[in-house]
Amino acid sequence: MIVVFLGPPGAGKGTQAKLLSERMGFLHLSTGDILRDAVKKQTPLGMKAKEYMDRGELVPDSLIVELIENYLPEEGKVVLDGFPRTVAQAEALDDMLNSKGKELKKVILFDSPDEVIIDRLSGRRVCSSCGAVYHIRYNPPKKDGVCDLCGGALVQREDDKEQVIKNRLEVYRRQTEPLIDLYQRRGILFRMDASMNVEELFYEIERVLKVC
Ligand code: AP5
Repeated sequence: MIVVFLGPPGAGKGTQAKLLSERMGFLHLSTGDILRDAVKKQTPLGMKAKEYMDRGELVPDSLIVELIENYLPEEGKVVLDGFPRTVAQAEALDDMLNSKGKELKKVILFDSPDEVIIDRLSGRRVCSSCGAVYHIRYNPPKKDGVCDLCGGALVQREDDKEQVIKNRLEVYRRQTEPLIDLYQRRGILFRMDASMNVEELFYEIERVLKVC
């Protein structure tokens, strides 16, 4: 089963995808995490992607589609977190699945007002060593600025700075929102109120995934 998590930056897609992976055995494929790792390791992909990511813009479709083709397994439960994000990426995903005799059956939309998104993104801190995600109020570490899991330093993502957040939201509206209509017309879009707390939201997502 392939599930797509669609929604604005900071709506909680990564948080829920991690829970799906831990509690329901899904493979969590996050294009953002893969790209950040490539940037950290200064791979050719990372070097190409960095300038786009720092500005809050989308990395070109051709690079992203190739990345997903490399990571998408033949079988098993997969949650796609942050892909597709453009109509061209959605078409490429359809082609990939069709070529394996499969089709996309569920897209979870994280619906969230801008105030919630800005509050979540501006308070997010990530571990510079293991990548664990915290929030200064909603999910604080035990010790200020230090990762509970590995003791690494917690930092703010470059693209979580105020000016870049605004650009990411605009990019989302312009390039990703058209997918809502596309998947709604296919009857596979499930809209979630992403302003719920983490456990309430997980309960709703789990319910949708268990039905049909
Ligand atoms: P990516 O990493 O995918 O960023 P994003 O979609 O902007 O998503 P975020 O990671 O910012 O947020 P999230 O929804 O996962 O929220 P989270 O769970 O962390 O992409 C980064 C960049 O890579 C893009 O800008 C682009 O350049 C490039 N890229 C990636 N994919 C691409 C693609 N397909 N095509 C082209 N370019 C691509 O939660 C946020 C905060 O809120 C955390 O602090 C968390 O603890 C807290 N929180 C989460 N849920 C709740 C809750 N229910 N209640 C309270 N707090 C919560």
